[in-house]
Amino acid sequence: MRILLGVSGGIAAYKAVLLLRLLREQGHAVRVIPTASALRFVGAPTFEALSGEPVTGEVFDDVSRVQHVALGQGADLVVVAPATADLLSRAATGRADDLLTSTLLTARCPVVMAPAMHTEMWEHPATQANVATLRERGVHVIEPASGRLTGADTGPGRLPEPEEIARIALDVAARGPHTSAAVSAMKPAGDLSGRRVVVSAGGTREAIDPVRFIGNRSSGKQGVALAQAARDRGADVVLVAANLEAAATAALRASGAKVVDVESAAQLRDAVRQGAASADVVVMAAAVADFRPAGAPEAKIKKVPGRAPAPIELVENPDVLAELARERLRPGQVVVGFAAETGDETGSVLEHGRAKARRKGADLLAVNAVGPGRGFGTDTNDVTIVDRAGDVVATAHGTKRVVADALWDAVTKIVPAI
Ligand code: CTP
Repeated sequence: MRILLGVSGGIAAYKAVLLLRLLREQGHAVRVIPTASALRFVGAPTFEALSGEPVTGEVFDDVSRVQHVALGQGADLVVVAPATADLLSRAATGRADDLLTSTLLTARCPVVMAPAMHTEMWEHPATQANVATLRERGVHVIEPASGRLTGADTGPGRLPEPEEIARIALDVAARGPHTSAAVSAMKPAGDLSGRRVVVSAGGTREAIDPVRFIGNRSSGKQGVALAQAARDRGADVVLVAANLEAAATAALRASGAKVVDVESAAQLRDAVRQGAASADVVVMAAAVADFRPAGAPEAKIKKVPGRAPAPIELVENPDVLAELARERLRPGQVVVGFAAETGDETGSVLEHGRAKARRKGADLLAVNAVGPGRGFGTDTNDVTIVDRAGDVVATAHGTKRVVADALWDAVTKIVPAI
């Protein structure tokens, strides 16, 4: 593949060197187009040596070949990493004041941008509006990672690791979207654009008394990754977040998703059903308590020395997923569930998952093995996606984002056309 690697001027420009090497190692021809300020961070010889191609950011170099047109027209994929706030702004307004922005106007291939900047700059409405504009035009803007920034500060704004950028960019190139289609049809080009999706994430808490609860170990990472992937693919997203820290959903909120915070299974059920009334897809990734204490007292339960505590009586919670699958609040709605299984003497993880798919009636069920170091709280996941009959339709393993994209791939195959 012929890839143009745009590099704008941020400290993360050094990671573009690693990305370049990675893409070259995978056999792609890469031409680097830095902005003038990128060259203050990394010198042209580094890019030239690693790409084996000339490096310039100037429109007035090699004018006879009309580079800004030739480069854009000949590319199969454009990746801009890092994309600074300034670059996003110039791209969103269609400026053509250097070789990179001019090339962005002439490219008709998929374009992927990986922003990197300080959290304040990323969250500023001006930047968010630019990102929204670019996404509407079919540019795939990757969410920045959260973590350590240039100084001692942390938050969303970090450039994702080069491996992650390469994976997403090559994925996007493989399936589109093509900006040419987006530009000519003047409509968003993400494969979930125009879709409304509801994702639940996290673990519910069932009150025993005002200070104690029955909870579970779900970290919510898979659900947040699902919501983020849907957003990146153009969907309108509502995340029903059961007991997630604000930091875990900050990037998602910044990218325009609606986040509804809930605590108990009953609250989660209300919020999910409210969103589901107008949703094309509902994904139940939350770990919902099957039982709640009957009639939790309003006052704290006191310890009485020498007297055994009263047993906690449990009553069953409604199964939100099974209800949605049965009732179909909206015609053609796709309902997706998760099954966290350990496997036991009565059956393997997959056998339990298949039985659950048939029992719950969801269109798709992502079955994953959980246990110490597997599934809960980890950054990677292994899932087998089965359909309502229990037949395997896909498998995915890797980061929770990889799994999320695999699930949306499976959803897009069965969601009815708009
Ligand atoms: N779920 C739900 N409402 C509940 C319990 C679970 O919507 N009250 C959903 C979860 O969000 C998940 C799926 O059902 O998508 C599977 O949940 P899981 O707890 O694994 O299944 P259970 O039906 O509780 O079966 P078991 O605990 O016996 O394995």
